[in-house]
Amino acid sequence: MLDPDSANSSSFAPPRGPGARTTGNFDRIAWCYDALAGLVFGGSLRAAQRAALAGLPPGAPHVLILGGGTGWVLGEVLRRRPRATVLYLEASGPMLARAAARLRRTAPGAAGQVEFRRGTEAALAPAERFDALATFFVLDCFPAAALGPALARLAAARQPAAPWLLADFCRPRRGWQRALLGTMYWFFGAVAALRVRQLPDFHAALAGLGLHPAQPAFFFGGAVEGTVFRPAAPSGAPGTEPLN
Ligand SMILES: C[S@@+](CC[C@H](N)C(=O)[O-])C[C@H]1O[C@@H](n2cnc3c(N)ncnc32)[C@H](O)[C@@H]1O
Repeated sequence: MLDPDSANSSSFAPPRGPGARTTGNFDRIAWCYDALAGLVFGGSLRAAQRAALAGLPPGAPHVLILGGGTGWVLGEVLRRRPRATVLYLEASGPMLARAAARLRRTAPGAAGQVEFRRGTEAALAPAERFDALATFFVLDCFPAAALGPALARLAAARQPAAPWLLADFCRPRRGWQRALLGTMYWFFGAVAALRVRQLPDFHAALAGLGLHPAQPAFFFGGAVEGTVFRPAAPSGAPGTEPLN
């Protein structure tokens, strides 16, 4: 699926569909994104992603990674599930090129298990279905008005029992968390044309799709979460009795 000689930013076709580029343009900062994230957050963002990846289904799941950036997460998925197949769907050509180059460098034998596709959720084919969805620090790029339609498109690509793995920022509860988010949105507005000013409410939006947080884990003083969302068990199913 990955042509090892074609992993440069110009070799990925531009995003298709109406969802292209409503969520910022990370092309110019692909080269320094990981270093910046590490500088500000240390290992917290990766720890949150590892926590969410605990929800990967066993065996050889077909996994959608949306907005995976430079590809660290891909290695983590393949390390945990060596027989997984992955659609790596990323809006930024330079980010995608880095992810493809990283896979070629670190796990060349897995190239046939990964499809790199440049685009947004709008580039999913109607019949595509996944056993798990991973959205790590990408839903925070959606303006509130765009989140619902994007999540609905992604939800339509889930197998009925597929977990939705989320790592992202939490709704701020303290002044420093509000200041941190405000600074980040200001920065990414300047360097990545991100037009978001407030973190959308992922939990409410996912609850609206019948998905509930099963295993939340918090990092960076509670500012960051790694959470596995699962569909609610049908009423009457074992384990749905209220605990008194
Ligand atoms: C803040 S970065 C996070 C990258 C990576 N998940 C990480 O945690 O290191 C957001 C990434 O999502 C991509 N992105 C933003 N909106 C997207 C969308 N609607 N579909 C696919 N990728 C998107 C950006 O190009 C960028 O690479």
